[in-house]
Amino acid sequence: MIKAIRGTRDLLPPDTDLWNFVEAQVRSVFQRYNFREIRTPVFEATELFARGVGEDTDIVSKEMFTWEDKARAQSEKAQSLTLRPENTAGVVRAYIEHDLGRSGQLQKLYYIGPQFRRERPQKGRYRQFFQIGAEVIGPPSAGSEQPIRDAEVIEMLTALLDSVGLKGWTLHLNSVGCANDRATYNAALREALAGVKDKMCVDCQRRAETNPLRVLDCKVPEDQPIIEALPKISQYLDEPCRQHFAEVKAILDTMGITYQINERMVRGLDYYTRTTFEFTHGDLGAQSAVLGGGRYDGLSESLGGPKAPGIGFAIGEDRMILALQAQQATASVPVDAYIAPLGAGMNRHALKLARELRDAGLVVDVGDEGFRLKKSFEAAEKMSARYVVIVGENEIAAGAFAVKDIKKGEQATVNRAELASSLRTKSE
Ligand code: HAM
Repeated sequence: MIKAIRGTRDLLPPDTDLWNFVEAQVRSVFQRYNFREIRTPVFEATELFARGVGEDTDIVSKEMFTWEDKARAQSEKAQSLTLRPENTAGVVRAYIEHDLGRSGQLQKLYYIGPQFRRERPQKGRYRQFFQIGAEVIGPPSAGSEQPIRDAEVIEMLTALLDSVGLKGWTLHLNSVGCANDRATYNAALREALAGVKDKMCVDCQRRAETNPLRVLDCKVPEDQPIIEALPKISQYLDEPCRQHFAEVKAILDTMGITYQINERMVRGLDYYTRTTFEFTHGDLGAQSAVLGGGRYDGLSESLGGPKAPGIGFAIGEDRMILALQAQQATASVPVDAYIAPLGAGMNRHALKLARELRDAGLVVDVGDEGFRLKKSFEAAEKMSARYVVIVGENEIAAGAFAVKDIKKGEQATVNRAELASSLRTKSE
């Protein structure tokens, strides 16, 4: 038997009802905050992620699905391509490629789609997973650097989580400063790590040399006391970064949004500057981050584009669904009526009636004239339809149908002209 690849999954009904509910809710929130959809390709040049996300990150160094694409002509070189592990780099590439900054306005873009990371699969961690993300990016003259943008994005996230009914989350907040602060902080970390790194895990020994900030991501229990004693990023923020962060917090305070400052949260991607955040959820076990994001003021320039500060986030949709399911959330759409054609030649009449009712907005399913009535009733009950509408020769001749309420067991005769409105009012 051929099976789905480890780390990938089929999403089946009724779960897909909940996925569709979530996506419909978030699209409506994005619309109210004046975000527009962007769709970028699922694969990109490997270099985009190496330069954008960072060579030393776990994502780029270990987790990408990368392949050499064959050259089509002799004059062409083979190109290294990668399935996108995240969408921010792709959005910023598109921003540069299409010169989206030329209007001088902020670009407020959102996306919903699959991402790919070769991680060890476990609950809440997949090799193909889905993100719902958004980016606010633009020239500095459009105010793209201002703390109000950070606060608005975080505030919108609380609205997004409210709209799907997710409860019990915690917002973790930090500032990783600007490039200069990070350089001095990295130097301080490197110095502090020099004396202790030999006692740490092999990954940290490597990170201490290549990218000391990444040591703070380490989850190895034995390393934690050492990491706790390392210098803190807040001591290394310059005055503009300190003020920027203070203003973000002040706006959140005014809006009544509670958060925890988490100085170890530097996030696993190199492009972050200043504000970073994650929302965690208690029902998710080890993979507790339901979403993550932050500011990336230098990303466009590092990809060869204009100065275009930005901030954004990505929700792990798989994890959001898991957390909702832990709350017993479902989103099934009830079937209003099951049409049972009774006797030879009745299928065509049944389908015609189904079309009338569907056009009137009802959810309708249709059986088959070869079924006995008992079989039709069983099928209707299995799909939890509210009514069975019988379509036989007599009903067609009379222009009126036998309608049976499955739960109550009551039956009535309803004229064709009144059928849709009668099923609707009965359903309400
Ligand atoms: P990230 O923290 O790498 O950030 O991913 C965001 C979210 O995607 C995570 O919090 C998690 O919920 C989900 N996620 C990540 N990996 C997996 C996986 N293997 N299986 C299931 N879910 C996963 C980013 O990707 C940034 N691009 C976010 C961003 C946008 N920052 C600024 N703009």
